[in-house]
Amino acid sequence: MLRFLTAGESHGQAELAILEGIPVGLSVTEEIIQKDLDKRRGGAGRGGRGLIEKDKVKILSGVRLGKTIGSPIALLVENSDFQNWKVTMSVHPPSEQTSHLREVSNPRPGHADLAGALKYGFSDIRNVIERSSARETIMRVAIGSICRRFLSEFNIQIDSRIIRIGKMEIPDNSQIEEIIIRALKKKDTLGGVIQIIARNVPPGLGSYVHWDRKLDGLIARALMSIPSVKAVEIGDGITNAGKFGSQVHDEIYYDEKYLRKTNHAGGLEGGVTNGEDIVCRVYHKPLSTLGNPFNTINLQTKKSVKAVVERSDICVVPRAGVISEAMIAFVLSDVLLEKFGSDNLNDIKKNYQNYLRRIKI
Ligand SMILES: Cc1cc2nc3c(=O)[nH]c(=O)nc-3n(C[C@H](O)[C@H](O)[C@H](O)COP(=O)(O)O)c2cc1C
Repeated sequence: MLRFLTAGESHGQAELAILEGIPVGLSVTEEIIQKDLDKRRGGAGRGGRGLIEKDKVKILSGVRLGKTIGSPIALLVENSDFQNWKVTMSVHPPSEQTSHLREVSNPRPGHADLAGALKYGFSDIRNVIERSSARETIMRVAIGSICRRFLSEFNIQIDSRIIRIGKMEIPDNSQIEEIIIRALKKKDTLGGVIQIIARNVPPGLGSYVHWDRKLDGLIARALMSIPSVKAVEIGDGITNAGKFGSQVHDEIYYDEKYLRKTNHAGGLEGGVTNGEDIVCRVYHKPLSTLGNPFNTINLQTKKSVKAVVERSDICVVPRAGVISEAMIAFVLSDVLLEKFGSDNLNDIKKNYQNYLRRIKI
């Protein structure tokens, strides 16, 4: 139903996206998208890039007079840093200016550098770094913002909070900066855990019928695709594995609608929403660009050297929640469109209300 593509290199001219499948009649403005992009830009643990980029979004198509018109929505964010990288990132064949450019040859363990260079046969790892960079997630946030706008028409809300930075539980956000500064002083990096919750999700989204339509699988895939996410947990999945069944399952009762006493399942049973909040956690690894770089092998000489040190963040967790929210918003929008129709927002709302009447919510 819904699909998107992104394009753009980290220091290229711009980041771009095309989103297809949003129904007609949804109010969308650049200001709404901008609010989410600003959340991704800020936060402790950010490297120098955050000071350079303004991340201003432009809607190029698919919206007329503030409302979607059913055609693909094209989005653009220009990279300000391109001005400093014009020669390196030129799209033109090598010139005298570019022939002296130094190739990046010392891959970072933990990044896509070596695997990407081997896969495509690059001697210059810059070709890998530019696209594997998480700068691309800016377009996912922009896409997610439009999807959240759509979901809000059905009163579905998505938010997130930080659970851990490194080993430290984070009850409130006040200690985050201090923990990250400590890592920075050690020239090290940190990962952490973020919890994402989608509220007011109706039961019956997704499917138990085929493996590739199960919503837990679709959500896990979408979240795992975020750079540096190395594990996804649905509900209390990780702790549940060590408990008895009697401690884990969520008893059903009825009070004008079907409800649960607990929500250990995280709102999903059999790959279908059960009407409780969808609760997920993403586990981000510590970033792999280290101030004290690891040993690696130079691609040309095959000798042991230190890995390249690119300008880098220390910890992405403070600003990565909005990326997970975006990916879940996209997946939920897709399954909602699948169930209730896809062309016209008013038609979809009517179908939605009929369904709620049938299941008596
Ligand atoms: C918002 C965000 C910013 C990131 N910034 C950096 C960074 O500055 N330095 C770095 O080494 N990795 C950074 N990463 C992680 C890398 O992009 C990621 O580890 C790398 O592409 C390899 O992919 P993988 O970790 O998913 O295997 C960032 C990730 C996110 C989500």
